[in-house]
Amino acid sequence: MLEVKFSLIAILASLSFVDSSNILLVFALPGKSHGILGDGFVRLLLAAGHEVTSITTYPTRQLHPNLTEVDVSRNLDLSPDKYINIKAVLDKEIDLNNITGLIHAMKNLGNTTFTNENVQKLMMDPSQKFDAVIVEWLFWELSSGLSAVFDCPLIWFSTLEPHWMVTKLIDENLNPAYNPDFMTGNTIPFTFMQRVAELCKQIVTSLFLDFTFVPMEEKLYQVLFGPAAAIRGKSLPSYHDVRFNASLMLGNSHVSLGQATRLPQSYKPIAGYHIDPDLKPLPENLKKIFDNDTTGVIYFSMGSSLKSKDMPEKLKKELLKMFGTLKHTVLWKFEDVLTDLPTNVHIVKWAPQPSILAHPKTILFITHGGLLSTTETVHFGVPIIGIPVFADQFNNVDRAINKGFAKRVDLSYTMADDLKVAIEEIISNPRYAAKVKELSLIYHDRPVSPDKELVHWIEHVIKTKGAPHLRSPALFVPWYQKVYLDLAALILIGLLAIKIVIKQLFCSKGRTTSQKKNN
Ligand SMILES: *[C@@H]1O[C@H](CO)[C@@H](O)[C@H](O)[C@H]1NC(C)=O
Repeated sequence: MLEVKFSLIAILASLSFVDSSNILLVFALPGKSHGILGDGFVRLLLAAGHEVTSITTYPTRQLHPNLTEVDVSRNLDLSPDKYINIKAVLDKEIDLNNITGLIHAMKNLGNTTFTNENVQKLMMDPSQKFDAVIVEWLFWELSSGLSAVFDCPLIWFSTLEPHWMVTKLIDENLNPAYNPDFMTGNTIPFTFMQRVAELCKQIVTSLFLDFTFVPMEEKLYQVLFGPAAAIRGKSLPSYHDVRFNASLMLGNSHVSLGQATRLPQSYKPIAGYHIDPDLKPLPENLKKIFDNDTTGVIYFSMGSSLKSKDMPEKLKKELLKMFGTLKHTVLWKFEDVLTDLPTNVHIVKWAPQPSILAHPKTILFITHGGLLSTTETVHFGVPIIGIPVFADQFNNVDRAINKGFAKRVDLSYTMADDLKVAIEEIISNPRYAAKVKELSLIYHDRPVSPDKELVHWIEHVIKTKGAPHLRSPALFVPWYQKVYLDLAALILIGLLAIKIVIKQLFCSKGRTTSQKKNN
């Protein structure tokens, strides 16, 4: 039996070898969730028999004959985790929604990633060849330069639900009248003022990007990628031509999680691909907690970047006291030791989140509302209470509320009481759980699972040499033509001309009559 299995694997391996491609992945952002998203690509592409070179902030050091990891873990020094913590946000010491700051952080990230000696070694080696390069977009378009260096198709991976800053790279801006920017926290339908704010946000951000950020990136692009192109005897194409030349965008999104956004052919939603269908069994300590529970488990985690231990002492005490008054089991992912635990509250330093959410006894998830958490909660069908802290978390939570499977509690020194009210509402009212189960059905009811789709479209791009047939024609039409400004100008000129002609006729007629009178 074992032999049969082995020869089968050998045959499969040799079959896939025929179509094996060499793929470069760039998941260089510091932030554990970006690492998890990158790991999903590595896992699926290796399983499909491809060779993977992965530029990663979180090297797994797994030994696989087809995997080469290019370690940029030094990027962790730039991690926002260093200054984003719950207490600092509570005390309003940092403004996380400051787009200028975020974008300058991205400049540093470009520098540290591409001057890293491991990446330099890869770029400056002309024998390195790739069939496609896949880069994660998060304000950060510089990595697209690798497609110019290695002269291969570019595939974006977009971390969030589709928004105008990414759709413009493969198609055009989304209409701000019904598509929120990912930072504004508005949800549709917009009020008049929200609609105006969305428009202003797009215009102001676009001006900032076009006149400040992109020129800065363009200089970096020349400096960082120029030598690698020169070593291959080429000169770099313009940064604009590279950024807008992607073959495909794989999006960490799905209609069950976001809204029914109008999307181009070159955008493929693959949310959920990162969840390994082989769920790991719960570790012994957690299994015992679940086995002993009789009333349902509430799981509380602020994600992997935000640490519950950074909460102010008073807040921790109040939360513990409040959890103690509940009749349910509370499982709190907490990175430190807590004393005086009520008997129904359990602290775990590390939690296998998918396995916990998958457990039928889990009745509620209290989360910071990161995109991976909101995805996983729909995947497993658990209602949430969101405590958003920064960036897209506000939008994710508000979207979940709009969809009807969530409540929001704002981070504050006195949030324990609000949290209790929200917990009681979600647990006593069955509509939240029913709604998330309904969305879970929509989420799972796809003709092809997201992991298969991911592999299929990457292979499709490689097979069709960059999939030019998927490219949106909107990319090649200037904005003034899209809104027919040229036609409007023509009509205006026409009307003016008619007006002048009429005036001329009228005036000359008037003149002749008055001339006649004078005579
Ligand atoms: C754009 O992409 C296509 C397909 O991958 C490639 O052949 C072409 O050289 C690229 N152009 C630029 C300017 O990068």
